[in-house]
Order: sequence, then C-alpha cells, then structure tokens
Amino acid sequence: MTALTLSTAAAPGLRADAIVIGVAKGGKGPVVAPGAETVDQAYDGRLAAVLETLGASGAEGEVTKLPAPAGFKAPVVVAVGLGAEPEDDGAHGAETLRRAAGVAARTLAGAKKAAFALPVDGAGAVGAIAEGVLLGAYSFDTYKQAPQGAAAKKNGRAPLGEAVLLGGRPRDAAHKAALERATSVAEELNRARDLINTPPNDLDPAAFAAIAEEAAKQHGITVQVLDPAALRKGGYGGILGVGAGSAAGPRLVKLSYRHPEAAKHLAFVGKGITYDSGGISLKPAGHNETMKCDMSGAAAVFAAVVAAARLGLAVQITGWLALAENMPSGSATRPGDVLRMYSGKTVEVLNTDAEGRLVLADALWAASEEKPDAIVDVATLTGAMVLALGNRTFGVMANDDAFRAAITDAAEEVGEESWPMPLPEHLRKGMDSPTADISNMGERMGGGLVAGLFLREFVGEGITWAHLDIAGPAFNEAGPFGYTPKGGTGSAVRTLVRLAELTAAGDLG
Ligand code: BES
Ligand code: ZN
Ligand code: ZN
Repeated sequence: MTALTLSTAAAPGLRADAIVIGVAKGGKGPVVAPGAETVDQAYDGRLAAVLETLGASGAEGEVTKLPAPAGFKAPVVVAVGLGAEPEDDGAHGAETLRRAAGVAARTLAGAKKAAFALPVDGAGAVGAIAEGVLLGAYSFDTYKQAPQGAAAKKNGRAPLGEAVLLGGRPRDAAHKAALERATSVAEELNRARDLINTPPNDLDPAAFAAIAEEAAKQHGITVQVLDPAALRKGGYGGILGVGAGSAAGPRLVKLSYRHPEAAKHLAFVGKGITYDSGGISLKPAGHNETMKCDMSGAAAVFAAVVAAARLGLAVQITGWLALAENMPSGSATRPGDVLRMYSGKTVEVLNTDAEGRLVLADALWAASEEKPDAIVDVATLTGAMVLALGNRTFGVMANDDAFRAAITDAAEEVGEESWPMPLPEHLRKGMDSPTADISNMGERMGGGLVAGLFLREFVGEGITWAHLDIAGPAFNEAGPFGYTPKGGTGSAVRTLVRLAELTAAGDLG
C-alpha cells in the first residue's frame, strides 16, 4: 500500500513526482484552495487564471495537470477539483477532501512519490486525506501478468508509492493518531476489496475461513471455524442447506475481539456467499457474472473486526461470517425443500436464489445466543434494494428506530451513503408457508423489506438489531469515482468501524 508521511515542509523544495493541490468552483471561476499558497505565489498569483485557461472549473472529480513553476523540485502540479467553495469562509468537508485525495492518488498511479498540498485545518482533514489517498490508490492486479519490456513503461501503473501530506504535523499527537486510524481502517478495507475481487474459484468458504483465521491470530482475535461436520452436529440447517449443492463445503466463522475494559458487546453478522449462481433457481446469464461479490457483507464484517482490534477500541465485538457457495447439483437444496434452521424454525425454500437470508438466519440466531447489546448484519441481499436506492446507497432496516438513525448518522459521518427503510408488518404474511413455519419468499413488491422481515424472525427476543442491504454499493461495475475503484468497494466497513468507536465511547445505546 502507499506509504504515508506528514510534513510541514513547503511545496517548492519537495522532491516528488507531483504536487497535488485543490481547486474549488467559485462564483466567477476556479479558486485555488488553501494549502497551495506557495504554488500560487510561484505562478505570480495567477494560478487560478492559468487553471481557467486550461479549462478547469473546480468541479468535483476534475483533474488538471500543469508543469510546475520554475524553481520547484517536482515537475508537475496536479490540480484536483473540490466542487463548490465552502460557504461563509468555512473549510472543505471531510468527504470532499477524501474524494479529492482519492481521485489524485488514482491519477498518480505509476508515480513513486507525490506531495499533497490540500487544505488542512486540523486532524480531521489529515485523516480524511490519508484515507482518500490509501483507498484511491488501491488497485487489484493479482491476476494480471506483469507488463514486460516496452509495455512495462507504458502500462506499468503500480499504485502511487509514497504520499507526503503537507500541513500535517508529524509531532502533533492528534494528527499522528488520525494518520494511524486512517491507515488501519484503509488497510483492512482494502483487504476486504481484495477478498471481494478474488475470483470464486480461488475464494471458496474454506479459503475465506483460512484467511480470517490467519488475520485473527495476528491481531489477538479469538477465532472459531465450524466446518460442515460441526455445522451438522450443531444443527445449522440454513447454512448447510445453501451449501449443499457445492463441492466446496460451507463454514461459519466466529471472530471474538474483547478489550479488557469493554462495557458493551456488539455482534456483526456478514453474508458470505462466495459465489451465488442462484442454485437450482439458477440465475440467467447476465445476472451471475459479478456474483463473486456476494460475500461482501462477510468481508466488511471481517475487515471491521480486525480494524477495531488494531485500533484497540474499548468494546467487545463478535464477528460472524456465514460462508457458503450457492450452486446447483444433484445434492443441492430444491425449491420445495424444508430446512430446519439453527433456531429450530422450519423454512420452506421456494426459491434457492433467496439464499442470503438462510445463511444469515443461522448466524443471527447464533449471535443472539450470546445476548449482545446490539446486532448489525451486512449483506448483498436483494436486487430490489438496488432498484430502490441505486448503486451507491445501502438500505438500513432495524427493529429500533433510534438505532436505525444512529447507523445512518454514523454512515454519513464517515462518508458512506445510506437510507432508512421500513419493515412494514403487512408484508410478513406473504411469507406464510402451508408446510413450514415460514417460507424464504414473499411478495415481489418491496422485496428488500420482505428480506428484512424474514431476518427479523431470527433475532433473539429483546435484542436491538439492524440490517444493512449493501447489494447496490458493494460492487462497482461502472468506472472508478472519488476513492471508489471499479469492483469490490468495501462498502459498510467504515460505518461498522464508526459504530464500534461510538459504542466504545459510550455514545451508542
Ligand atoms: N445475491 C443476490 C442479491 C444481489 C443482487 C446482490 C444484485 C447484488 C446485486 C441474492 O441472493 C438474490 O439473488 N436475491 C433475490 C431474491 C429473490 C429470489 C427473492 C433477488 O433479489 O432477486
Ligand atoms: Zn441469490
Ligand atoms: Zn445472494
């Protein structure tokens, strides 16, 4: 990953491949953002005019490259758009800086070192820029042959090697802490992206469990893996039913992190379908090519638990990864089969493609047995949620309105887009089954909410619970934007980490 340092040095003397500056969209054209004063001076105060001549407006995401002024050690200035100027002389928001830093870091792929002269008015800005750089520089090239010969020069786009954050004070405790937090969160988030992007022939449930086990050991997290034999012994009919058609058996991974001074216990539960073919209710071509992303919830939970441990948060967190591969075969669960779930309830499986709720049901019940203060599950659960909220926003459902609001607030704080969704009682009867206690299908309309209502049935009595449907934002099939790459995004990781921080601080529940 990109190496990060803080420096109070001035831009002109810095030996780097590029200096990154911010440019905002003012009423009368582009405005050079604070932090770039020495650069502007070197252009005799005409940098805004130069940028305008080059076509820059300061719009968010815009990149303008220009030769550095005489006397600069770096050859190039990269001006990145920040969007509208803050009102009333205020500072640029954290998310604006995070996105701009991300765009610049991605643009600078192939460069060894860049200095970031973006507006820094405190530790919050340092953390945001650091996070933006580390997340924006991410690339997944494990499966690409290294370019050779002339192609290496042309296409050798390794991630930016090193970023110096100007205006960040290396001896300021708050600045240093912000940098360390950003590094821990971004490293784990990028690891979640790697897991999501890894093709399903290389990441089956056993492989995912082994990676989780290894990381947990490194960070003082206790880990327990239930293999198919243990799942059978325990009666985990949901996870076993979904995994029944695959040659790669399912796993339930339990990650336990506990700070000695923890007062509260959070449980995070992640949907970990390493590949969702739909099973016997097979998805048609065009709907399964990206279904390696169906373990994004489990990847987010895994990343958040490890990040919380690295940050040493004063909280207890149990992470549950419900891992299975949903495949059709002679041993697969059929539409019409009835599963006996870990909770004891029976489920008539009417559509094997509604598998996420089945694995989550078992994990939610297992999580409930420990009576945590709250449970949050994360899942790429329904196409309906994508239709409702689009590709950048996850839906939040809960059995407690205040908790749901706390989650959408936490998401906003860290720069993740989310929206509260209801759990309308009248949709429950659509899941009545003539044969079993409940079926895994309900009305088509409001499918995301139906799925939420199904999950609610498997949350222990009296436990505060929320469900994050990240089917839209988990995997970016379009081009990169801000600090979000193509492919696995790491959706929900930062929201979960923020919830853990708020809980540790006693500010939640
Ligand atoms: N993994 C899918 C949901 C999904 C869709 C995730 C698009 C990411 C992008 C899930 O298992 C699924 O297939 N859900 C069905 C449920 C239906 C059969 C009730 C759906 O949404 O169509
Ligand atoms: Zn499915
Ligand atoms: Zn699925």
